[in-house]
Amino acid sequence: MPYAPLADALETERLSLRLWSERDAEGYRRLVLEREETRAEREGNEVDPGALLSLDEARAEVTGARENAPARGIHGLTLRRRGDDEFLGYCALVVGRATIDEPELAYELLRSAHGHGYATEAAAAVVDAARSTGRTRLWSTVRTWNTPSLRVLEKLGFRHDHSTTDDKGEIVWNVLDL
Ligand SMILES: CC(C)(COP(=O)(O)OP(=O)(O)OC[C@H]1O[C@@H](n2cnc3c(N)ncnc32)[C@H](O)[C@@H]1OP(=O)(O)O)[C@@H](O)C(=O)NCCC(=O)NCCS
Repeated sequence: MPYAPLADALETERLSLRLWSERDAEGYRRLVLEREETRAEREGNEVDPGALLSLDEARAEVTGARENAPARGIHGLTLRRRGDDEFLGYCALVVGRATIDEPELAYELLRSAHGHGYATEAAAAVVDAARSTGRTRLWSTVRTWNTPSLRVLEKLGFRHDHSTTDDKGEIVWNVLDL
């Protein structure tokens, strides 16, 4: 692989970022539930039970994420306050709609953790770690309605590059030269 592996543990002023582990299964399950509740609210329809995870399914996903990390070289890191065991969410480098060479930055926090600057703080550390892998550019694709996410990217120095559309509407492509 031409790139160094992404760090699997990072510390910021307030946060500890760690590779997924089995103890994150319940938190991840809750994150998926909140994501679906938010979607249903935005689209004015019901929560789709098929979009939710059982605890076993959540466990399989977080364990899989951990096991696949070394081969892929990029991965997600869970967020906790330093010295605290409560799962807050994650920040990740993912291929997503982009590429392994120029991956996407992604983040998702439980509602109870929003509004404290945690996403920006964690993402800034992941951006630094991405630079340390030898990569020169990151992307992040965001729906136009997602003002908080677009604001996080702006604070990190991303700029709007272009937009594409799919069946759900416009996707804003934001880019950061490292
Ligand atoms: C996007 C997300 C990670 C942000 O997490 P966070 O820790 O609250 O983010 P931060 O506190 O670091 O920054 C959020 C910024 O958006 C601003 N913001 C939040 N809601 C806003 C709104 N409705 N309108 C305008 N700005 C808003 C905040 O004021 C803050 O900006 P500021 O520092 O200039 O005041 C969180 O909302 C989330 O998990 N959302 C659901 C998952 C998601 O959408 N992920 C991104 C997919 S592309």
